[in-house]
Amino acid sequence: MDKRLESLKKDFLVALAKLKDRTQLDQLYQNYFGRKGVLTQALRQVKELAAEERPRVGKLANEIKGELEHVVREARVRLGGELETDRVAFDTTLPGTEVPLGHLHPITTIQYQIEDIAREMGFMILDGPEVESEYYNFTALNIPPDHPARDMQDTFWLTNGHLLRTHTSPVQVRALQKYGAPFRGIVPGRVFRYEATDASHDHTFYQLEGLMVDENISIANLIAMMKALLQGVFQTTVEVRLRPGYFPFVEPGFELDIKCLICNGDGCSVCKRTGWLELMPCGLVHPAVLRASNVDPDRFSGFAFGLGLTRLVMMKYGIHDIRLLLGGDIRFLEQF
Ligand code: FA5
Repeated sequence: MDKRLESLKKDFLVALAKLKDRTQLDQLYQNYFGRKGVLTQALRQVKELAAEERPRVGKLANEIKGELEHVVREARVRLGGELETDRVAFDTTLPGTEVPLGHLHPITTIQYQIEDIAREMGFMILDGPEVESEYYNFTALNIPPDHPARDMQDTFWLTNGHLLRTHTSPVQVRALQKYGAPFRGIVPGRVFRYEATDASHDHTFYQLEGLMVDENISIANLIAMMKALLQGVFQTTVEVRLRPGYFPFVEPGFELDIKCLICNGDGCSVCKRTGWLELMPCGLVHPAVLRASNVDPDRFSGFAFGLGLTRLVMMKYGIHDIRLLLGGDIRFLEQF
C-alpha cells in the first residue's frame, strides 16, 4: 500500500509538470481527487487494512493527499492566473451570517427624548460623579450633618467617607459653581439607595435633575417646563397633580404625581393602590443652595426638579415591576 501511494504521488507530479492549461489541470484533479479518482479509491482502501497497519498508512495517505492538494492550488494560480482568495473553498453567492442588531435600553431611549426636548429649550446636558462627597450630596443642599432629612434617603456609605450619590441634586451645586447664573441644565444619571426593593423601588435607578436659575424665575416656569417634558414623552396629555412636598433644598417644595398609567388610576401594586405615582419632586431653589453655589439669592431665583426617570419609563411602557428594567434579561429588553 505504501508503494502504491508513493507511486500515485510520483505519477501525479510528473503529469502535473506537463500541464499546459487549467482544463488539463481540472481533468487531472478529477482523475485523482474525484469521487472515482485513483487517490480517492486508494484512501478508501486504507479502511480495509489490518488494524495494526491502518494508523500508519492512513497518516501517510493523508500527508500525500495534503501535499498534492497544495501543489494543485499552486498550479491553479500559475495556470489560471487565479487570485489568492479563489484558492479558499468559499462560495461568494451564499448569504452572509446575520449579525444580531441590538438597540438602546428603554431608559436610554426616554433619556434621549427628554434631552432633545430640553436642548430645544436651551438647557445643557450635564453629567456628575456617581461616587459623591457628603458635602455635595447633603451639606451643600441645605442638609447639614445630623439633620433628620438625611434619613429620607438611605445611603450606601463608602469606607473612605464618600458615598454613592442618592440623587442627581448634587450636580445643581456643582453646575452653578462651574457655570454661574443664569443657568439652564438637565442631569440624567444613575443613583443608588440602600433600600429594600419592590415593584416600584430599586436600589439602583435613574433620575433626571432639572435646574434653571435666572432673574425672576417662578413656579410658572417650572410648571411650563414639566408639562412640555411629560407631553413630549407621552405624546398625549397626562393627568398630573401637584401637592406640597418637603425637601430642604427647595422652598416652596412640591411633589408632582402622575396618574398611574398601569391601572389608569384604579390602584395597583405599582402605585400602592393609590392611583397616583410620585414622579417628580420639585420646587424653587432654596437661597442656601444658591449661596453654597456662589450665586446671589437676592438677584437670582431658580426652579429645580428631580424626575424619577426609571419610573417614568415604567409608566411610558406599562412595566409593572421596576426590577425588570435592570434585571439583565434580554428577553424582556427585546420587547422594546
Ligand atoms: C429626590 O431624590 C430629590 N433629589 C428630588 C428633588 C430634586 C426635589 C430637585 C426637589 C428639587 P426623591 O427621594 O423623592 O427626591 O426621589 C425622586 C424621584 O426618584 C421619586 O419621585 C421617584 O420617582 C424616584 N425614586 C425614588 N426612590 C426610588 C427607588 N428606590 N426606585 C426607583 N425610583 C425611585
